[in-house]
Amino acid sequence: MITVRELQPLRDLVREARSSGKSIGFVPTMGALHAGHLSLIRLARQQSDYVVASIFVNPLQFAPGEDFERYPRRTEADAEMLLPENLDLLYLPSVSEFYPGDFSTAVEVSEVTEGGEGAIRAGHFRGVATVVAKLFLQVSPDVACLGRKDLQQVAVIRRMIRDLDFPIRLAVGETVREPDGLALSSRNAYLSKTERERAALFPRALFDTRDRAAAGVTDARELETRTRAELERAGFTVDYVEIVDPETMRRLTQAGPEAAIAAAIRLGKTRLIDNVLFSDRR
Ligand code: PAJ
Repeated sequence: MITVRELQPLRDLVREARSSGKSIGFVPTMGALHAGHLSLIRLARQQSDYVVASIFVNPLQFAPGEDFERYPRRTEADAEMLLPENLDLLYLPSVSEFYPGDFSTAVEVSEVTEGGEGAIRAGHFRGVATVVAKLFLQVSPDVACLGRKDLQQVAVIRRMIRDLDFPIRLAVGETVREPDGLALSSRNAYLSKTERERAALFPRALFDTRDRAAAGVTDARELETRTRAELERAGFTVDYVEIVDPETMRRLTQAGPEAAIAAAIRLGKTRLIDNVLFSDRR
């Protein structure tokens, strides 16, 4: 595994790999790596010959007052976790090189960003689309791997790739969960022991809703209302619960097998997001 911090050596190494006939896979991350990230690196390995991952805590996607400062940064432990993964290239750009002081460009994806996270975290997806567009241009992968855990992020990047003709195929990895169902997330590190135990009720409510839909309750408003009540009963503050079409992120009135339930809750100082596809049989 080669580690680079600057753009020129990144470009040189990717060009060299491509000129020897290799296809390039890319996994963007913000670090504090866990088994969910590693599953994407394995997916990239299956889908391409030369695998690049980035670790960059992107200031543009955090609104003022969010957790940019306290977001976990542990590059050394991350690099160690990556050693057995057979990663070819780890890219660790610095904020000052990535965003010069007069950086003035943004990528704005509308429609798919209207609801869910987009409605609550102002500017979040502008920051995500901008950093991912810039990383795509820097790395120029053939395949990029993203996790289903961030359902709306997948919809945003899929739309951006299509609208701007990025010559990149998206591969989506399924959500990796703890044995009790909690989706792995770098932000789980913020949870106290009792919060961590309670957090398992979050995915459980979403899976229960999926089961209720499969059992014939397909009125999306009814399913949303009941899920919200369950989450509140578990002691969470609910930011949103939405039954959506995962491609467009539009809310549905009828929940068929192509629907997904996406939600965000707060538990103490921690905000968690998760989603379940109604076709997901786990
Ligand atoms: P980060 O939260 O570090 O996530 C990096 C990738 O890992 C994303 O594609 C995310 O969906 C995926 N991921 C996170 N938890 C997962 C889990 N439990 N199972 C499977 N995949 C999981 O998402 C970001 O970073 C940033 O927004 C980024 C795309 C890097 C842009 O800054």
